[in-house]
Amino acid sequence: MNIPSPGRAEIRKMQSSDLDRIIQIEREIFLFPWSLGNFADSLKTGYLCHVLEQDNILFGYGIMMMSPEEAHVLTLGIAANWQKKGWGRRLLHHFIQLAQENHAKSIFLDVRESNHGAAQLYKQMGFQHIATRKGYYPAMCGREDALVMQLML
Ligand SMILES: CC(C)(COP(=O)(O)OP(=O)(O)OC[C@H]1O[C@@H](n2cnc3c(N)ncnc32)[C@H](O)[C@@H]1OP(=O)(O)O)[C@@H](O)C(=O)NCCC(=O)NCCS
Repeated sequence: MNIPSPGRAEIRKMQSSDLDRIIQIEREIFLFPWSLGNFADSLKTGYLCHVLEQDNILFGYGIMMMSPEEAHVLTLGIAANWQKKGWGRRLLHHFIQLAQENHAKSIFLDVRESNHGAAQLYKQMGFQHIATRKGYYPAMCGREDALVMQLML
């Protein structure tokens, strides 16, 4: 697949000094955002935490957990003004490469059933819907199902 690399952004490791900006984006793009503690714990635990940055502006981030044969993308976010320009695809492709380098046989992720944009991106990258977790996420009116998606590497 041809992955666009628009602009001159770089992908680098997340640092604790990035967390204020990440929380700002997180609150802008998610109705139920992760807390600062969730991100700090991910860094401390040694998950693969990477960010997208251009001209010192951090505008995207993702976190992936590695286990011996599997990778799990735990979150992926692109700041609202930067969305729909190919960056989400670029960052996801980066995590797929990292999973391959770490000898994962597959990558899993969960996505809200209503999050059609994200699900479309995952399908486009080859992920398949393999299961549904009933009522997995909190929602404005009760709970919402999670689609479990898998990419075989
Ligand atoms: C989901 C998200 C990471 C995608 O990143 P992005 O940079 O906006 O997406 P891209 O520009 O790379 O789009 C890649 C593909 O995803 C799909 N897509 C992305 N946003 C979409 C939308 N709003 N509606 C429909 N399809 C969409 C399209 O198939 C698109 O391919 P195309 O441009 O050839 O049509 C980003 O929109 C985001 O951070 N959303 C809010 C947080 C979120 O939902 N994170 C995922 C949690 S599982």
